[in-house]
Amino acid sequence: MPHEANLIATLSVAFVLAFAGGMLADRLRLPPLVGYLMAGVLVGPFTPGFVADGELATELAEMGVILLMFGVGLHFSASDMMAVKGVAIPGAIVQILAATGLGVGLASLWDWGLGAGLVLGLSLSVASTVVLLKALEERNLLNTSNGRIAVGWLIVEDLAMVVALVLLPAAAELLGGHPLAGADGHGGGGSDGSVLLTLALTLGKVAIFATLALALGPRVVPWLLAQVARTGSRELFTLAVLAVALGIAYGSAKLFGVSFALGAFFAGVVLSESRFSHKAAADSMPLQDAFSVIFFVSVGMLFDPSILVREPVAVAAVLLTIIVGKSIFAFGIVRMLGYPTSTGLMVSASLAQIGEFSFILVGLGMALGLLPPEGRDLVLAGALLSITLNPLSFYIVGRIEKGMKARAPAGDVQGLPKFLALEQEIERARQRMEEKERTHSLQVQGLEQTFPVLSRLDREELERLLLMFRPRTAAPGEKVIRRGDRADGMYFISSGSVSVQAAGHTIKLERGTFFGEMALLSGRRRSADVTALDYCEFLMLDRRDFHQFMARHPGLRAAVMELANQRRKMNSGTTTAIATN
Ligand code: CMP
Repeated sequence: MPHEANLIATLSVAFVLAFAGGMLADRLRLPPLVGYLMAGVLVGPFTPGFVADGELATELAEMGVILLMFGVGLHFSASDMMAVKGVAIPGAIVQILAATGLGVGLASLWDWGLGAGLVLGLSLSVASTVVLLKALEERNLLNTSNGRIAVGWLIVEDLAMVVALVLLPAAAELLGGHPLAGADGHGGGGSDGSVLLTLALTLGKVAIFATLALALGPRVVPWLLAQVARTGSRELFTLAVLAVALGIAYGSAKLFGVSFALGAFFAGVVLSESRFSHKAAADSMPLQDAFSVIFFVSVGMLFDPSILVREPVAVAAVLLTIIVGKSIFAFGIVRMLGYPTSTGLMVSASLAQIGEFSFILVGLGMALGLLPPEGRDLVLAGALLSITLNPLSFYIVGRIEKGMKARAPAGDVQGLPKFLALEQEIERARQRMEEKERTHSLQVQGLEQTFPVLSRLDREELERLLLMFRPRTAAPGEKVIRRGDRADGMYFISSGSVSVQAAGHTIKLERGTFFGEMALLSGRRRSADVTALDYCEFLMLDRRDFHQFMARHPGLRAAVMELANQRRKMNSGTTTAIATN
């Protein structure tokens, strides 16, 4: 099959079967993800019938991981995280250590090496963000305090896994594996120097990359997006978001040797604090969805179902570690930290599954020669089964809670003060977020209220105008415009007043009006002197933006033109209209 046709065949079959599988899973009240994985198993080499191009699928899946991590970064809110850090950070760390310990224990039972045990344990320790978010959303729990704790906890796990992905290649040789073959997207291991040196080098590179990304990113990226948003092209904006995500991911992998995933995560974080984060998230969502589906399909393709028959005991052990082992630890930690039973139960159910990070980890573990193929099959089986059984975990937790309520109707008072304090903290973080959004929408509303001429624009157009405006100030007596100068832009007075000296008379213009439009419309020089009467603040629309914006809004242009014509008539006493350039 020619290469192009291969790509098309792989994509089409993957999408069609994933869609069918997803719908079927939904019918069976299972997460659609189970359907995608099943679709992958169907087109994989271990089942009869069509076999998709595995290499191609793996590469497409990498796109899915990049976009997924970009999404995680985009939704990462430092203030939300700070609110739940007291429980999320120690909880996630202890849980990872415990699950990794269980993994190492299992591995030693099966006579695998320490490296294999570590990879297995780590991959069993981290839950799937996609599954968690979907589960919480479906149950309307996403914005509850328990939901926030679960999400925060998972983000700490994700971050720890990002670090693990960076460190594993560097430590591979020490653990009995080999360096990654050829150019890579996963760390810069594999030098002939000592392992410690490689580790230090890798960490150093990551540190430089993170510092650069966090120092430059928040300045450059929002500025770039503001420029793009001003063009008013939706397409260019989406493209800019993708270019930032993929560009940073790829560039960081090439320049710093950090993983694609880490680069994409930082691209998301950089964007998350800017006011474009919502738009960026919304615009990249369809692509994130599409490629994460491909990701799950390609994971399904790797799964060899015969493991269920060949090693039923090992599969059961892995599954129990994920569903029961991790849950017991999570519950215990939450209670030990002094939070209520309900929080412990919720976190346990939310995290009783594994997903995308585990797949990435086992892939890397195999590439490094650390994990035997059965390890991958076991983790894949564990993921498939634990994701499928996750609704059951929530159901059981719900029953336990109901039972407890029936026994103690007053509710669970233990741990309540701590929980209430945390709830307040979460509430404060939410309020800060809302405040930020309110300020922005006030600005938009204020624009409309202050300048009657803008009342004909809708919200989206006002937002764009807000992006184009540049703030300018003038002290009393300062000349803002000189008669005979070339026109640089149009000024809206947001505070203070100016005097216009034109054709022998002086006119006072106040807040809410504008000036500097005549020369822009006619293409001639400035027709009058404009001087600030007191301390003034202006919103300036420069010449290029003026023409661009007016070309898109003929109604506004006509209104501005009408006033300009009146002013001109007043100055010259004639009735000739200004030419419209
Ligand atoms: P422009 O010619 O670009 O620069 C000077 C500005 O002064 C002009 O645009 C108008 O905005 C403003 N201006 C000129 N004449 C009058 C007038 N008669 N009344 C109010 N504003 C005026």
